[in-house]
Amino acid sequence: MEKKKHFSRTLVTTALPYANGPVHIGHLAGVYVPADIYTRYLRLRGEDVLMIGGSDEHGVPITIKAQREGVTPQDIVDRYHNIIKDSMAELGISFDVYGRTTSEMHRQTATEFFRTLYDKGEFVEKTSMQYYDEQADQWLADRYIIGTCPRCGNEHAYGDQCESCGSSLNATDLINPHSSITGNVPVLRETKHWYMPLDKWEPKLRQWILEEHKEWKPNVYGQCKSWLDGGLQPRAVTRDLNWGIPVPVEGAEGKVRYVWFDAPIGYISNTRELRPDDWEKYWKAPDTRIIHFIGKDNIVFHCLIFPAMLLAHGGYQLPENVPSNEFLNLEGDKISTSRNWAVWLHEYLRDFPGKQDVLRYVLTANAPETKDNDFTWHDFQARNNGELVAILGNFVNRAIVLTHKYFDGHVPAAGDLTDYDRATLAEFQNVRDTLSENIETFHFRDALKDAMNLARIGNKYLADTEPWKLGQRRLEQTGQHRRPCRRQRGGTA
Ligand code: 2FM
Ligand code: ZN
Repeated sequence: MEKKKHFSRTLVTTALPYANGPVHIGHLAGVYVPADIYTRYLRLRGEDVLMIGGSDEHGVPITIKAQREGVTPQDIVDRYHNIIKDSMAELGISFDVYGRTTSEMHRQTATEFFRTLYDKGEFVEKTSMQYYDEQADQWLADRYIIGTCPRCGNEHAYGDQCESCGSSLNATDLINPHSSITGNVPVLRETKHWYMPLDKWEPKLRQWILEEHKEWKPNVYGQCKSWLDGGLQPRAVTRDLNWGIPVPVEGAEGKVRYVWFDAPIGYISNTRELRPDDWEKYWKAPDTRIIHFIGKDNIVFHCLIFPAMLLAHGGYQLPENVPSNEFLNLEGDKISTSRNWAVWLHEYLRDFPGKQDVLRYVLTANAPETKDNDFTWHDFQARNNGELVAILGNFVNRAIVLTHKYFDGHVPAAGDLTDYDRATLAEFQNVRDTLSENIETFHFRDALKDAMNLARIGNKYLADTEPWKLGQRRLEQTGQHRRPCRRQRGGTA
């Protein structure tokens, strides 16, 4: 068997949600709940672990939202950063830091990062033709262009992606393009941008993922393999946009960094914000384990583009694993912000006060770990009543009632153990080992089943051994006889 690698510390990162709306159950099931389970588990084991989160506050999703509402991008990110941060805290997602990519620390870190790559000659400059909206007098980022998808014929495809067939596109691929700002047909104009030659890093990425990380989840490994087999192309890391971090080089006035060349550096700047004196060991020491929790639409950025950036910079560790989940649907339909088809976290917390753990439980039991899954309120109710109440709640309640009734609320020292006691304790130990193994290999659904098994075993033990009879005899012997309550006469506590 292969020897397990030893790590002295773990850095858990969680995808930085765009601060253009609140978070919903899809985000939670895909990223934040599993990351929180993993982090809490390592903390309980006494390991050195940091959980990094924060808002992604640049990029076109923010400017589109601002334009629609007639407010500034800063207004948008201020509003949603706080909603997201507060609701995640209320759900118990235990970030060590929850930063923002509009912070000064991020601007500084991202600027230094860009400068290093620029000075090392890691970029190539290229001019290309891009769409411009003459009436709005502005360049059109890919998301601002809508047209017909050349692959599937969907008439509402965006310039970067068709949400109907999932193809990633170039704006110039679209048939009948028009601007989503004015509705006009845009014109092509020449513009200069800086590109990262991802092709240069392809052999390294191939070796690192396809040879050295065969243990990654099949959905992640498979997506990486298909990108690598298709051949990586140079990718522009700058944009003609007025919202974002300026490009710190001559000739780039009015240009900002591409959001995907900015957001992952947020993981680094947020670590730096949290640990200004020793952040580097969480990113650079070879005995650090970096784990990126993300959703499946982020795989290419975390497994190929960000690692290429880190390799080009030098000195950084690559992630040990990227346990990406698939998507969670809602009542059989894709979750959609624009159609307002979602269960929003802040609304759940308002409507179900004190029921954080029920949501965490259901989202873990039904997590889209290997395929897209469906959240339904019927399933939510069934799991609450049939699992949390009937199995776990029942076990905890019986144990507490018995302890109070017969032992004044203190767990007594174990007496002589029977064979059955020993067998039950051994079963607990086995479950504990499997549960640990499942968490360490990112199988959180199975780990949850293991945890529930502890309650099942406990319930069976109580039913088989009927300790209330023993307790009753004990009370009688010590002269503290009390009438058993009615439910106990029936054989349960
Ligand atoms: O897909 C998204 O919502 C992005 N904002 C995720 C960014 S993850 C990281 F790179 F910051
Ligand atoms: Zn399509």
